[in-house]
Amino acid sequence: MILSDLLWCTDLKEKFVLQKLLCTFLSCSKEQLWTNMDKEIPDDIIQKTIAAYKSYVEDKKPLEYILGHVDFFGREFFVDEATLIPRPETEYMINAVTEYINSLKLGAWSLKPKENLLLDIGTGCWVLWISVLLQNPEYFGEAIFTDYFENALAIAKKNFETYTKEILALKSDLKICFFQSDLLDFLVHWTSKLPDGTTILVANLPYIPEATFEQNVADNVKKREPKPAFVGWDDGLDYYRKMFEQLFVLQPKNLVMFLEMMTWQVDILRQDFGDRIAFEEVKTFHFNIRIVKAYLK
Ligand SMILES: C[S@@+](CC[C@H](N)C(=O)[O-])C[C@H]1O[C@@H](n2cnc3c(N)ncnc32)[C@H](O)[C@@H]1O
Repeated sequence: MILSDLLWCTDLKEKFVLQKLLCTFLSCSKEQLWTNMDKEIPDDIIQKTIAAYKSYVEDKKPLEYILGHVDFFGREFFVDEATLIPRPETEYMINAVTEYINSLKLGAWSLKPKENLLLDIGTGCWVLWISVLLQNPEYFGEAIFTDYFENALAIAKKNFETYTKEILALKSDLKICFFQSDLLDFLVHWTSKLPDGTTILVANLPYIPEATFEQNVADNVKKREPKPAFVGWDDGLDYYRKMFEQLFVLQPKNLVMFLEMMTWQVDILRQDFGDRIAFEEVKTFHFNIRIVKAYLK
């Protein structure tokens, strides 16, 4: 069978999906695919493509899990069912952090890069950590990523192996650590001290209320993606609350947090923690998701 026969097969209606599958299985670009329409496709690739297509259409398996990768902030990352599929709203957090760092550069740029730390809490497949670093390689001297779940960290480490060379080429003396940890618990056992410069903490912790997850989230998300990556229990804020309590004990100096949550949740956190934490809404995605900059008062 030649490529055009498969691509224009009337039984396979989801052409975008078919194109993505063929590009992945034939290891080619979209342009290469469309300019080689008369080429024979090996039988094993045809079988693989049709099986994957059925898995998408009939079993409703998300395309990212079928392909084994997701596009995020212009890069490709490994992903599997151990990790949530990164969502476009989270890309706003990278812009928010970069704007913050640029605003420091415009002012008194007296911070020594070696002393600035990036903390990614609940890293999942690692997209935040790497994207923030690649946008701001000169700013950080040290960078840490963590997750509670071993299987999520395994995916993060796989991505780590792919991108570490690129990061180290930009910043050869960057110190990198990762921990399996319940939020900030690792800091208690961590031998090094927090640096004197700024610590930027990025966290897109599970923030969907349990009832919202059960009632409003699409069935294939419920069936396929890991619930513990989404649900923050009653009002969705259990993990953020717990992390703030950990911070009150640790009392880090010069900490700036960038957090993702729903619009109405910012008001609850202001009510509960406003005397000790300042919350500033820096980005809005659609109307209901916010990227919040927060720091200890
Ligand atoms: C919403 S996902 C975010 C993943 C990724 N950072 C992103 O933005 O796409 C939440 C992540 O928090 C992790 N997580 C859940 N509970 C945690 C805990 N107690 N401590 C650390 N990480 C946790 C989950 O495994 C998941 O990877």
